[in-house]
Amino acid sequence: MAVRKIIRMGHPVLRRRARPLRREELDSVVLHRLIADMVDTLHDYGGIGLAAPQVNESVRLALIEIPGGPTRYGELDHVPLTVCVNPEIEIVDETAAGYWEGCLSIPGLRGFVERPQHIRVHFLDLGGERRELEATGFLATVFQHEFDHLDGRLFVDRIKDPTRLAFEEEFARYVLPLEREGEPAGESADASA
Ligand code: NI
Repeated sequence: MAVRKIIRMGHPVLRRRARPLRREELDSVVLHRLIADMVDTLHDYGGIGLAAPQVNESVRLALIEIPGGPTRYGELDHVPLTVCVNPEIEIVDETAAGYWEGCLSIPGLRGFVERPQHIRVHFLDLGGERRELEATGFLATVFQHEFDHLDGRLFVDRIKDPTRLAFEEEFARYVLPLEREGEPAGESADASA
């Protein structure tokens, strides 16, 4: 196992549509090593989600793991390590909510992005079994952020109001205090994914 380098915005692989994994790849040593490395990388960088293209592997694979409780991301529900192969999103309810998103491939920035807040996620597990799970609220945003990476899309593409893009330091200093006063700025859970 090893920590891999996370590639950053500007690297062309982050803008490519990743290829689906074939079933016969699921129990390959290469894929299991990639997943183990991605887990190490996620822990080392301190994120809550990571998509394979972020470690320069253009395949449709993403993982999410949220420690839960009072974390440096705020108070979050625990989500155990979930490995998604060839995921698809079904929108259950179009009603959107916004969060200040961050991305390990865009270090130092936060941007306010609105996304549907009730989705169903369909994917293969490593045994090749079809799985589905439902996600609401912040978790729905995390899945959509990760799966965007598989289509070459970054959160900055989805910012509707360009004034709501900030450096983390300025975000913490100027934006968060306003949000905590209940300004109409939406939710503010932190996420680097
Ligand atoms: Ni990201």
